[in-house]
Amino acid sequence: MEIIGIRPTYRFTQRISYALSRFYSSRLNPIYYLGAITVFLLIIDVISGIYLFFFYEVDPKEAYSSVEAISSSFLGSLMRSVHRYSSDGLILFAVLHMIQMILTDRFRMFRWVAWVSGVATLIIFWAIGVSGYLLVWDERAQLIGILTAKFFTEVHIFGHALMSAFLGTDIKNLGGLFRILLFGHIAVTILLIFTLWVHVMRISRPRIFPPKYLMVLLTLYVIVISVVFPAKSDPPADLGKVPFGMSMDWFYLTGYPLFKLLPIGVNWFIFVGFFGLLAVFPWIIKGRRNPPAEVVEEKCEGCEQCFIDCPYEAIYMKQVNGKKKAVVIPNKCAGCGICIASCNYNASAIPTVPFTEIVSRISEEKPDLVIFRCPFSSEVEEREGILVFTLPCAGAVNAVWMREILKNAGGVMIVGCDGPDCYFREGIQWTEERFLGRRRPRLLKTLPRGRVSIVEAPNVVDVSHHVSRFLSQIREGKTPDEVSIFSQNRVNHILAAGVLALPFLTFYPLTVDRMDFYPTDRSLIVLTFKYRSSPVKKAEKVYSKLKHMQALKNIVLERSPIEVTLTLDGRPILRKVYNPRGLRRDSSIYVYEEFLVSPGDHSLELLVRETTHPEKTHRFFLRKRIAPATSLAMTYSEDRGFFQIGR
Ligand code: HEM
Ligand code: SF4
Ligand code: SF4
Repeated sequence: MEIIGIRPTYRFTQRISYALSRFYSSRLNPIYYLGAITVFLLIIDVISGIYLFFFYEVDPKEAYSSVEAISSSFLGSLMRSVHRYSSDGLILFAVLHMIQMILTDRFRMFRWVAWVSGVATLIIFWAIGVSGYLLVWDERAQLIGILTAKFFTEVHIFGHALMSAFLGTDIKNLGGLFRILLFGHIAVTILLIFTLWVHVMRISRPRIFPPKYLMVLLTLYVIVISVVFPAKSDPPADLGKVPFGMSMDWFYLTGYPLFKLLPIGVNWFIFVGFFGLLAVFPWIIKGRRNPPAEVVEEKCEGCEQCFIDCPYEAIYMKQVNGKKKAVVIPNKCAGCGICIASCNYNASAIPTVPFTEIVSRISEEKPDLVIFRCPFSSEVEEREGILVFTLPCAGAVNAVWMREILKNAGGVMIVGCDGPDCYFREGIQWTEERFLGRRRPRLLKTLPRGRVSIVEAPNVVDVSHHVSRFLSQIREGKTPDEVSIFSQNRVNHILAAGVLALPFLTFYPLTVDRMDFYPTDRSLIVLTFKYRSSPVKKAEKVYSKLKHMQALKNIVLERSPIEVTLTLDGRPILRKVYNPRGLRRDSSIYVYEEFLVSPGDHSLELLVRETTHPEKTHRFFLRKRIAPATSLAMTYSEDRGFFQIGR
């Protein structure tokens, strides 16, 4: 039966990762721990975030100065910068981890839960990062707020209401939003624990943390970059002005430049389309899967070894007539065959590991060397004296078989993936442990153990010198006394540390670049206000028979729309009717309009008229010189009842 094999993209990734394994050793190679590195950076992020939380003032009037105060001490600045750079790092490593999952074909079929929850986690990361930038309340925060609010104006329930929070007179409104943002920033971080739990739910013993050496290096790098390039704010936000540009954090604000290039509707299309397609990617790019394993109930002795060894939580134990029996859950099963090698009793079976055929071929041909390889490992040709069997995973080779095989073969070589890169996560590791006698079922001590060799050699590596050497040792009867294992286990600590530093070098340049979102040779006129128009209808009836539930005043059932006309230098540039918000049109009206104009002297005339009460009209005249790259915001003071410039 055909088993799934290596794809060109996986081979390409192996080339890079195996080259790194030579510096790091396979056990420390960061490419094999991209998910775990992300988790570790998240932990640093949360710890530094808790520190900042104690000193941050959740009030738009105080937020900026509280952040500046934090940055004024060495420890505060360090913690703020660690928070910034660990957040950047976790996005970078999460995206690299996702790309790796695609390239190594680890994203579909039985892995779909990890994939979909991964996409959700990524979106949550972005949302947390953007909300974090808003909390600083500098010009960048304000511009992000305006751009994000513009994006949401397309969703009817928000309308222009959200816009007015970031520009205009309504600091109270912004204060409320800040509390929601801070609460959301923390609550969603806690939600991450849940999404990450779902993410690894179908994985046994997920590698949540990278090896200690990598953790030390990562902590060191985040601290060093924080000391050398401390995180800075843009100038403070001003509710009366629109900032034309901001310093870009390319890790979190990647999509924002699209706002200035494309209409909001197209941005929504790209956003929903991109993440929607990403979420259903495993079903778009279809693939085959290996047939699942089955347990022959009568043969199962209930030892639980397969239940322990399965890397995908695909086996559970059930009670049958008072005895434990293993059961495979087919849709969780990866068809790796690792459980075949867990069983001392031949109770677990899978069509892709035909043990009886293998043994009978070996006893017929009596080869010098039998090679078991997995499809992701080095290619080996069959030739005179050598028999090659490709199994779904190197972890499917049962040590108990050696009793039969070594009777008729000179030696056995198992060729598998590069340690932690095992396509089925734990196959090669379990095999090594079983053959070294550290895991059940063990290779019998009475067998000629030196006639077994295990080589970690991915597909891009040529294993022929290992084969030739082992073959000649077998033919000359000079095999070692013990099982020999070949892997990349030498670490060049200095070189390894240098290589891991590379992604960190991108953090500073990718977070300080300044970008303008409005043309700096133009000026901007913004009309932004909240207006509560006169009632059209009032409720007559009493709403409740219960006295304490009755409204004190008659409730407004509908309010008047307004017609807004704006004239620039005698030329009308806006004439539009705005309706009150709410299903019954009984709430306030929010207006947000932007006009790019040439810099210089301008005369403006604004006319706001309630359509059902024409006597209620506001007029506002203004002559003003507007400099290039500056804005002029026309707002309405609800308290004072007139239009004004700024807040
Ligand atoms: C955003 C933060 C993320 C974190 C912290 C994270 C972390 C992890 C961890 C710790 C594992 C277990 C690795 C192992 O033990 O073999 C894992 C596996 C996995 N992750 Fe993520 N991940 C994240 C995002 C993503 C994303 C965005 C995707 C793809 C959309 C993704 C797809 C997967 C898949 C498919 C696996 C299963 C790999 C396997 O079965 O061999 N992850 N992730
Ligand atoms: S074949 Fe692999 S995934 Fe399936 S039950 Fe056995 S060990 Fe688990
Ligand atoms: S390893 Fe074999 S005997 Fe033990 S529980 Fe699994 S199927 Fe049953």
